[in-house]
Amino acid sequence: MTDLRVNLAGVMLKNPIVVASGTFGFGHEFADYYDLSELGAICAKGLTVAKKDGNPPPRIAETPSGILNSVGLQNPGVDYFCAHEMPYLKQSGTKIIANISGNTLDEFTELAEKVSAAGVDLIEVNISCPNVKCGGLAWGTQPESAAAATAAVKKAATVPVIVKLSPNVTDITAIARAVEAAGADAVSLINTILGMRIDVNTRRPVLRNNMGGLSGPAVLPVAVRMIYQVACAVKIPILGMGGVASGADAAELMLAGATAVAVGTALFQNPYAPIHVRDELQAYLEQHNIPAASALTGAVMPY
Ligand code: SIN
Repeated sequence: MTDLRVNLAGVMLKNPIVVASGTFGFGHEFADYYDLSELGAICAKGLTVAKKDGNPPPRIAETPSGILNSVGLQNPGVDYFCAHEMPYLKQSGTKIIANISGNTLDEFTELAEKVSAAGVDLIEVNISCPNVKCGGLAWGTQPESAAAATAAVKKAATVPVIVKLSPNVTDITAIARAVEAAGADAVSLINTILGMRIDVNTRRPVLRNNMGGLSGPAVLPVAVRMIYQVACAVKIPILGMGGVASGADAAELMLAGATAVAVGTALFQNPYAPIHVRDELQAYLEQHNIPAASALTGAVMPY
């Protein structure tokens, strides 16, 4: 039997397939389709200190091989999550990752303290949301602010900390190195790529927020490139994401340097996508006589 287990920053996942934040809610809707314990981990919808309604609609637009979203971190707030969603998630039989977004360093510390106390297994620090005016991407475009957010979370977290990086920067390796130096236990990448569509008849942007984040198969080659670059630059593990829709896509991100892989946008087409990706990855490993999924990480042979 192929060993699908991977060690993500000291947390053992039963398989490398994680569901990406913002594409799986808090899991309820998907439990009608399969047992959530089949997943390597669930990364919950991003949390802020106060409840947020998000941006006005339209905030989702289809694009060739992807979608643009400008959701704007809609969520019920961290206290609601800890009181009402964590009890459900904790009994799901898989690892739970809380994704947190602060407007200030104090908010990052408060969020880390609260989700740690609620019993999450890992924290993903969102310094890369392109859809909010305050916080979000502003943290993730400079090494100094990225490091400050990381340090604020590390101060309070009692579980490993993953920092989610933005592709909307000139040099992602500089940000990755800065958060590693600030104590990050892992990085995740890529968040969405800032994009825009215009309705040529109305001359209005398709999204009410004008711009949004592009995800889906269209971004996969960018994710592979950035994961490869970051893997060459840091020693901490990588949770890779960006357009994964098949076992071969997952293998590609792992060969580039990812320890585990998140499936996101594919869930909007097919709720079974992460299960199919896991099964196809296992078939790929068996076909190539690779006894352990972990052997794929960083095994690309570059020219
Ligand atoms: C959103 O809620 O706007 C998406 C979250 C993100 O891109 O980080």
